[in-house]
Amino acid sequence: MKKFYITTPIFYPNSKLHMGHAYTTTLSDILARYHRLLHEDVYFLSGSDENTQKMIDAARREGKEPLLFLDLIVENFKSLYASLDISIDQFIRTTNREAHWPGAQALWKKLVEAGDIYKKEYEGLYCVGHEAFVTEKDLTDGLCPDHGTKPEFLKEENYFFKLSRYGDTIIEKIESDELHVIPQSRKNEILSFLRTGLEDVSFSRPRKSDWPDGLGIPVPGDDSQVMYVWCDALANYITALGYGRDDELYTKFWPTDVHVIGKDILRFHAAIWPGMLLSAGIPLPKTLLVHGFITSGGKKMSKTLGNVIDPEELINEYGAEAVRYYLARHVSPFEDGDITREGFKEAYNGNLANGLGNVVSRVMTMAQAHLNDTVVTEINTLPQEFLNAMNAYKVNEACEMIWKRIGALDERIAVEKPFALIKTDEVAGKRIIEELVREVYLIGCTLYSIMPKTSELIKAAVRENKKPENLFPRKE
Ligand code: MSP
Repeated sequence: MKKFYITTPIFYPNSKLHMGHAYTTTLSDILARYHRLLHEDVYFLSGSDENTQKMIDAARREGKEPLLFLDLIVENFKSLYASLDISIDQFIRTTNREAHWPGAQALWKKLVEAGDIYKKEYEGLYCVGHEAFVTEKDLTDGLCPDHGTKPEFLKEENYFFKLSRYGDTIIEKIESDELHVIPQSRKNEILSFLRTGLEDVSFSRPRKSDWPDGLGIPVPGDDSQVMYVWCDALANYITALGYGRDDELYTKFWPTDVHVIGKDILRFHAAIWPGMLLSAGIPLPKTLLVHGFITSGGKKMSKTLGNVIDPEELINEYGAEAVRYYLARHVSPFEDGDITREGFKEAYNGNLANGLGNVVSRVMTMAQAHLNDTVVTEINTLPQEFLNAMNAYKVNEACEMIWKRIGALDERIAVEKPFALIKTDEVAGKRIIEELVREVYLIGCTLYSIMPKTSELIKAAVRENKKPENLFPRKE
């Protein structure tokens, strides 16, 4: 059995997840389900990136004790995952001392053994929003352009990782697609960044006295330092599989088939992470699938701009299946995609209420009225066009293909009018209805990874030869 290991980034639990985060997770879930459909042995990982200053700051703003605050937010993440039907196998938390810390420390020791960790006095600017060191040239009027905040000036002694040693090898691996960066535009972008030369990176911070116990992974052999949050966070992809602790899953599933990430964290995944793995002698990920940003009204969805769309709100109004549908079809995996409440409603009414819902209901109403038996449906393979699109991660194109078939089905009913024909030529009328039912069933099957519940309802309707409940009631 072929294995398929897929991961989402681990999310910062400093506030609730918005549509942008829901996108990463839903896209990953669609791919995980698709590979299960292909009978592969899938492992799907997600989690939260908890050892961070920004979480502490957020907890303090709300007057909550950080570890309690974390538990509350993570509960909220998990409940969103449950409503969206996200089929993860594990949710890893980087404050988990049993699941995450031993592996992260084992990896650190490998870097030490390779001679790639050294101590250095560091002076520079740190942006808490990015949880990364920044330079003057990253700033606009002294502020971080992404967060609008003034970076802190830090002067401290840190451990450094000799990332500079690995630049050439990383370039080679990306050029040859051994580490496949998708889409091509992101591959070009990271290659030109890598060609400017990689610098060593600060990989630890002095332990802060105001951080509670249980937060921040101690550097092996030096408790006065904690691992830099990106070093800690990237390790999750292997610690969750038991690296350095219990190798069973790790041996089976590593290297990852796909890390799904947003475009803002490409450098961490295509420079620092491969550098760490090369240093430790661990095989590199096979693919980095880099998606764009969800924007709202043309602007990046962000709290400061006040254009955040809360996925829970849309789920309450339209249902999780509609949210999954929208993200799958109306956002390109490779570019920025816009979501507005008006656009969402239009797509819902046009393509779910009128499109899919209506056609299934029309066909199954005819089937229930005129066919005595369930139509025998044996689907051995899905349409090649659909498979090709999904294999190329073009989930939106795969959806286009499905909706083209839905449109064609509608058209066929309008042209051939089986409901009328059956009155004059019963055999011919029934034959057409049977064919329509088979097509509905096929559409139900192709929808499985995108809208799992709808897929089940459609297939059940065909099996029971009856009209399903109203799948997508129209919204006025
Ligand atoms: N904790 C790091 C990732 C560590 S992975 C080892 C992080 N967390 S995050 O919560 O800020 O972002 C998680 C993911 O959400 C990233 O892939 C990011 O690109 C994605 N998104 C955040 N805002 C987004 C949009 N508006 N649109 C689409 N995705 C966006 O980075």
